[in-house]
Amino acid sequence: MQVNGFSKLSKEAKIDWLLQTYFNNDSHARRILEQYWHNDEALQELHDGFIENTLTNFYLPYAVAPNFLINDKTYTIPMVIEESSVVAAASKAAKFWLDKGGFKTEVTDTEKLGHIHFTYAGKTSELIDFFRRNRLKILQSVAGMQANMKKRGGGIKDINLIDKTTAIPDYYQIEFKFDTADAMGANFINSVLEEAAETLKNLAQEQLSGKLDIVMRILSNYTPDCRVKVSVNCPVDALQTGSLSGEAYAKKFVQAIQIAEVEPCRAVTHNKGIMNGVDAVVIATGNDFRAVEANAHAYAGRNGQYTSLSHAEIREDILYFSLEMPLAIGTVGGITAIHPLVKFSLQLLQNPSAHDLMQIIAATGLAQNFAAINSLITDGIQKGHMKMHLNNLLNFLNATPDERLKAERYFTDKKVSFKALKDLLGRV
Ligand code: MEV
Repeated sequence: MQVNGFSKLSKEAKIDWLLQTYFNNDSHARRILEQYWHNDEALQELHDGFIENTLTNFYLPYAVAPNFLINDKTYTIPMVIEESSVVAAASKAAKFWLDKGGFKTEVTDTEKLGHIHFTYAGKTSELIDFFRRNRLKILQSVAGMQANMKKRGGGIKDINLIDKTTAIPDYYQIEFKFDTADAMGANFINSVLEEAAETLKNLAQEQLSGKLDIVMRILSNYTPDCRVKVSVNCPVDALQTGSLSGEAYAKKFVQAIQIAEVEPCRAVTHNKGIMNGVDAVVIATGNDFRAVEANAHAYAGRNGQYTSLSHAEIREDILYFSLEMPLAIGTVGGITAIHPLVKFSLQLLQNPSAHDLMQIIAATGLAQNFAAINSLITDGIQKGHMKMHLNNLLNFLNATPDERLKAERYFTDKKVSFKALKDLLGRV
């Protein structure tokens, strides 16, 4: 069904149209939307304003994972995620590494990129010469926009002309390198690029014999030089688990990581497990998880084959386990100062700088990866996962307290399945 002027309707009118068109005016459907409205009208308005055509709120659970020792400082980490087991796994891993020195992290660099993509129908040598003469003018044209960012320690670090004509005829870029301090920087970068592109176009019209056309100007979400590394290590003896000796466990652990390093099918799932932790903190701190995801996976494929973001090895009876990934996030700007829960998260994390937050997020990713590999090489993931999932299934079946108790007792030593649960509770 098509509609004109939808965005101009009030929230109530939008809901009316939707219910009439798709729900046969079902009052139950209306209640579903309305029951998630916030009682506090001002708070609801704040949320309505984040995006367009807002009808209601979509809740995700907000949880915390305590006991993360990162660079000798203890954190309780906020996590927003719908998948059961993830927070439990992160907490368990954090606790495991707590008395083994915790997580050690390091930010490699924080350089971000943005490009003016353009075509020039003329001699490359003329364009190179033009860029050399006008580089400073382009920078001067965005000097005012940089003032605030410079005060915070950021700004444009460099600009370069890049010849891309072997890939596409007449295609060039001006690549900007930025430091965006504690901001993720998307708005700053895109504003600078749009202004600089205008200057480039005007200067080209005055000085170049060929035609220069701006195709687009946009930041890159790929930040291979805005990277963080996190590692843990412990003597293999400390890894003894069930019937597995510490040495056997460590060998299996390293093999599991090696498989993800050479086998893309496994690497995707392996990295997905890392992103379970990464995204949960990224969302809780009001950052853009789509950008973080795209960046991480591009980095995992940087050498032409998709591979693991983490690495493990044994040296002199010590297991070294590490994760290195690009991460472009911020602790100022965006919704960080607007969303009450994001503010709460940042305060809970002791008001981190972007550097600090990169390290906290990466540590959560490594903890998640450790927990997943630990399950995979021992009991398998279903045991813990289905225990948590049992709760969801019981909710789905509207189980009574007695039924819950019965199910929890029954499944203590058995595999959880929906069919087995329905059989147990005599449901069809
Ligand atoms: C599930 O969300 C994540 C895992 O599949 C990750 C992994 O296999 O490493 C458990």
